[in-house]
Amino acid sequence: MKILVIHGPNLQLLGSRPPSIYGTAKLAAIDRLLAKTAVLRRAALTIVQSNHEGEIVERIGAAKGRYDGLLINPAAYTHTSVAIRDAIEAAGIPAVEVHLSNIYAREAFRHQSLIAPVCRGQVSGFGPESYRLGLEALLATLAGSPRGERAKRERAAR
Ligand code: DQA
Repeated sequence: MKILVIHGPNLQLLGSRPPSIYGTAKLAAIDRLLAKTAVLRRAALTIVQSNHEGEIVERIGAAKGRYDGLLINPAAYTHTSVAIRDAIEAAGIPAVEVHLSNIYAREAFRHQSLIAPVCRGQVSGFGPESYRLGLEALLATLAGSPRGERAKRERAAR
């Protein structure tokens, strides 16, 4: 399974963003956690971080037909971006939204996600574990897809 992981704006600053909200782990540590999970689950990850809405939209558009799933922390764009929501919907790639913090326990403007309705689900509030759990959930969802079933048959035949 090929998974595109997108970290949205300001996540490159993890480690120096308020640790009481975001913890002390840096983005590189989260990427290592994801890479470890991917090895265990035999998935191939491409991980990108972008502060630019248009770039994220283009990455999602280009992912159609090239990736089986999308794991995304849209960060602040979660609450504002119709463009990212539409890109996920148009690409038709199964997506899972993740957040380090519990967005529902924070300011009211973070309680709405424009992205969640076009995702299979959302994991919010578990720090870096949100990413690991999100990846596991995405892969579990994909395992039931025709492509996942084919991969299972191919592994069994080896
Ligand atoms: C975030 C939550 C968002 O509200 C915020 O703008 C972020 C990070 C999280 O992972 O908790 O930048 O997506």
